[in-house]
Amino acid sequence: MIRVKGIILAGGSGTRLSPNTISVNKHLLAVYDKPMIYYPLSVLMLAEIEEILIISSPEDVNRFESLLGNGESLGISITYQSQEKPNGIPEALIIGEDFIGEDEVTLILGDNIFYGQGFTTLLRKAIKQHEYATVFGYRVKDPERFGVVEFNERKKVVSLEEKPDAPKSDFAVAGLYIYDHHAVDIAKHLYPSERGELEITDLNKEYLQRSQLNVQLLGRGFAWMDAGTHDSLFEASEFVKNIQQRQGFKLACIEEIAYYMGHISQRELMQIGNYMAKTDYGQYLIDIANRKHIEQYWDELDLHPMLEVTEHE
Ligand code: G1P
Repeated sequence: MIRVKGIILAGGSGTRLSPNTISVNKHLLAVYDKPMIYYPLSVLMLAEIEEILIISSPEDVNRFESLLGNGESLGISITYQSQEKPNGIPEALIIGEDFIGEDEVTLILGDNIFYGQGFTTLLRKAIKQHEYATVFGYRVKDPERFGVVEFNERKKVVSLEEKPDAPKSDFAVAGLYIYDHHAVDIAKHLYPSERGELEITDLNKEYLQRSQLNVQLLGRGFAWMDAGTHDSLFEASEFVKNIQQRQGFKLACIEEIAYYMGHISQRELMQIGNYMAKTDYGQYLIDIANRKHIEQYWDELDLHPMLEVTEHE
């Protein structure tokens, strides 16, 4: 049986966030009350992916490991590999070749934040129905900053371009990709672009040429942000703070997700909460651990519709 594995690419030099990133990896910086990497990790966990590879620079891999360990405290498996130099996103697939094996892989960029009612359901469906390669399109005001996807009225991809001067559509390709294992071979045959990196857009173009590229649009009800510049990091923090304070539940709380998905017990959650009891984050976990009848809280995490999807199979 083909399994779906997850890769988080958390390398890069983070130059756009200097001086914050001179001695700290970008993906360990806080997006409001938790490290940035919690956000992509929560996406993979909600997608029911239990085998995750985190790729970072040789000097930073240990820091991620000291934060997340082998994943046991979240009831999942996390392994680590290093990327010698920031040679581009597709290199993550080459580095992860043995990890991927014959399976499928969901690759997510460590600074991408996804949020919205129904996102988990959409992603789970996309993974279940997935063949070959799937990318996610999201309307933005500044498509020239991203990979841009043009598609026809039947939502079939027509063209892909990386940071075009004259974008053919307003739809950016988000940093979340689902691939079959052939992506590894395709990545190996790519050439560096003008910026000296292998481009994920070139890999996606190869799938497009083979008529094997699907695009899944994320509508206006979703939020997609990258936190790669001072302004976007600040805006992402504000966004998270506003939603959390308004609604009283946390985004990308990986321990909460692990608990509701049945990966860790009430006692284990309580232990993690107690460890951070002085913070609002710790108190939040303690409150959740004290809840009775946890099913009634599933919808907070989008888990209800998700479970229905599974049941109707
Ligand atoms: C990368 C990809 C681009 C994609 C973006 C999403 O851009 O090359 O296609 O739209 O991530 O965050 P970069 O962050 O390398 O500028």
